[in-house]
Amino acid sequence: MTYQEAEKKLAEYGQTHVLRYYDELDGRERKELLEQIGGTDFSVLRYIGNPGEALNRGKISPLGAMELPEIEAHREEYTERGLAAIRGGKLGAVLLAGGMGTRLGSDDPKCMYDIGLTKTVYIMERLIVNLQEVVRQAGVSIPLFIMTSEKNDAKTRAFMKEHDYFGYDSGQVWFFRQEMAPAADRNGKVFMEGKGRIATSPNGNGGWYVSMARTGILDVVHERGIEWLNIFAVDNVLQRIADPCFLGATMASGAASGAKVVRKVTPDEKVGAICLEDGKPSIVEYYDMTPELMDAKNEKGEPAYNFGVILNYLFREKDLARIMDEKLPMHVVNKKIPHIDENGVPVSPEEPNGFKFEQLVLDMIHELDSCLPYEVVREHEFAPIKNRKGVDSVESARDLCRRNGIEL
Ligand code: UTP
Repeated sequence: MTYQEAEKKLAEYGQTHVLRYYDELDGRERKELLEQIGGTDFSVLRYIGNPGEALNRGKISPLGAMELPEIEAHREEYTERGLAAIRGGKLGAVLLAGGMGTRLGSDDPKCMYDIGLTKTVYIMERLIVNLQEVVRQAGVSIPLFIMTSEKNDAKTRAFMKEHDYFGYDSGQVWFFRQEMAPAADRNGKVFMEGKGRIATSPNGNGGWYVSMARTGILDVVHERGIEWLNIFAVDNVLQRIADPCFLGATMASGAASGAKVVRKVTPDEKVGAICLEDGKPSIVEYYDMTPELMDAKNEKGEPAYNFGVILNYLFREKDLARIMDEKLPMHVVNKKIPHIDENGVPVSPEEPNGFKFEQLVLDMIHELDSCLPYEVVREHEFAPIKNRKGVDSVESARDLCRRNGIEL
């Protein structure tokens, strides 16, 4: 992009301040800034102060889950079906590892975090150990696609290489990068990270499929005849990946997607609850749970929105291809954004000072026609690490690992 083109694009979105320090930059920095301007989607800024456009909710109604007794009654049948599909190469695993992990507050990617006590136990290691169990059970390797971002891609790749992929077959691992979105102040002006760089952050975990397509990784999926993708978060160290029973149950149900869910501890617990929205599967975020929804009961007299998602989903790939062009809602998130001020002085805010823009994988569920919510035992499968201490922390995850007999 030339300087004139950049100036024109910025003027269109009221962002000409991005070029304020252009004269002070050297040749390489100028080129990089112009490239960044060319590649940045400033149209997301319109969502500031206008969340209605992004998140208009439809009518919420309950969606029952496949509960534990039903799963137990069919465990063998579903597991065999899932294993057969895995052996036939029909399943790929997609690790969402592009997040910034700001709450954990480590400079390294979250997957590199060591939760060990008497030895090193990296988060990534725990995930690979779990996946390897299924590889052994099925007797075949499972393709693993790892989504990173510009901010952590190099470190994540180097870390995996350094640790010899924790024993995983490196020929079965692919990395791809997600896209970045600009971060802006409350007046909708993008922040500058430095004099020659716009502050950006990964555009949320909902962009994984589009990023797979853009980076050519989707070709690998198609060439190999993969039909199902298991999407999972990096930070749940008890995560069961490529779970054959979950895959078999979802396939048997005929649904286009599956979502692992846990029974909520309290109606106001901070997890997204699976539901129907205008008759299609959806997830109502905890901050959208009204008192009426919290009090609502199903025909068994149990809370109607009682199952929370744990960021472990199955998607039938051909259905995703069909909805590829559907626009996911944009979430405008209040965050602390380091930047330089108008005098070029770096600022590290203590409190949220602006907005980031994210699309979420949970919104993809709503684009599809059907979803099987599949109950799992929380204590065995859900140990998310968001914070250092307290709820969903390194401490709570260590405790849960110990209770599951995992040595740390
Ligand atoms: P979180 O919503 O917990 O975000 O991500 P985060 O960035 O890891 O942590 P905080 O909020 O900054 O503390 C849930 C999952 O989605 C992935 C994360 O890596 C994690 O596996 N994710 C999140 C992405 O892959 N890309 C994103 O842009 C955001």
